[in-house]
Amino acid sequence: MAKLNWGMIGGGEGSQIGPAHRLGAQADGHFAFVAGALDHRPDAGRDYAQRLGIAADRAYGDWREMLEGERNRPDRVDLVTVATPNSTHFEITRAFLEAGFHVLCEKPMTMTVDEGEEIVRTARRTGRICAVNYCYSAYPMIRQARAMVRAGEVGRVRLVVTNFSHGHHGDATDADNPRVRWRYDPAMAGVSGQFADCGIHALHMASFICDDEVERLSADFASTIPSRELEDDAMVNFRMTGGTVGRLWTSSVAIGRQHGFDIQVFGETGGLRWASEQPNQLIYTPVGGRTQIIEKGEGGLHDEARRLSRVAIAHPEGFPLAVANIYCDLADAIRGEARDGLPGAESGLRSMAAVHAAVASARAGGAWVDARPPMFR
Ligand code: NAI
Repeated sequence: MAKLNWGMIGGGEGSQIGPAHRLGAQADGHFAFVAGALDHRPDAGRDYAQRLGIAADRAYGDWREMLEGERNRPDRVDLVTVATPNSTHFEITRAFLEAGFHVLCEKPMTMTVDEGEEIVRTARRTGRICAVNYCYSAYPMIRQARAMVRAGEVGRVRLVVTNFSHGHHGDATDADNPRVRWRYDPAMAGVSGQFADCGIHALHMASFICDDEVERLSADFASTIPSRELEDDAMVNFRMTGGTVGRLWTSSVAIGRQHGFDIQVFGETGGLRWASEQPNQLIYTPVGGRTQIIEKGEGGLHDEARRLSRVAIAHPEGFPLAVANIYCDLADAIRGEARDGLPGAESGLRSMAAVHAAVASARAGGAWVDARPPMFR
């Protein structure tokens, strides 16, 4: 099968997420990396792109130059990944969708709900795919959990409890470090710090596994390091459309926790548990029965979990492979075979609406507020 052409904006040398995209996109041979505007410094971006093997005329200095350079090429990129800081996602994503490119945008998709709705409308009008990199949802055992919930194997879900809490910003003496400080600066990060950064992965995961949407929420935000304008810790209670009760804790000052993303689903006839630091195992307990460990790659998995288990049983399945699963589904979708589970612009928009709802709730002392974007009410 012919490779699809792929380009990237952001993800320059030394960036955090750039390598995961390059590994993820190219892991299965679906995409050829042919164009990029990789850095906010034009020369550094051109230089790094060429060192990664991109031809000089497609190693661009900035994203506008890339848009113009790619727009009319017969071999133009099929998919553009936007892996720049949050405040730039909206204008870059919209511009590329308008020009007819498919886009994979990093989270959070936009800074505001209005921008999120505009992205959803633009993707629908242009007929282009706009996916959002909620890559944790592409772990095989998360697909297994979702399939088990859909098949009624835990009954109606009563309760979902999730947290994404790490301690990497817990050192108050490091709060002025430029790599840390921007995340709590409204001009750079938007209305929310930790909730928009990590909490939305957990919220998306709750919706994804429960196959339901967050309807309303109540939030308590805290800046435990007082110099921070935005929250570094949040507790969010929520309710889903089908009545499921949700509890979410997210923190960046939880010293001792490394990655700290896990989720538990409690249904009427069973419970499920998954943790990102042990991603190969899904823990299942039927009501009144023994706890079982379901392993990635073993026999008897649901189809979606089997399809995305690409490393043999007993071998570890890493984060870049979850990103690779997103790229596999994108390749299929671009080639015309839509894949259930690929997080779309609607998911990105729902996250932005939840972030703004949580900020409004926290400012109102935890009042319950509607968490749905206006276009989905
Ligand atoms: P970073 O600060 O490590 O790297 C950002 C890169 O983008 C740098 O190479 C920088 O030069 C480049 N850049 C900045 N402005 C640019 C522009 N206008 N044009 C071209 N390049 C530009 O940031 P990091 O941590 O890699 O985050 C990038 C995005 O990825 C953020 O939105 C973040 O929320 C998201 N992210 C998502 C993760 C996930 O699990 N899905 C994990 C980590 C980050």
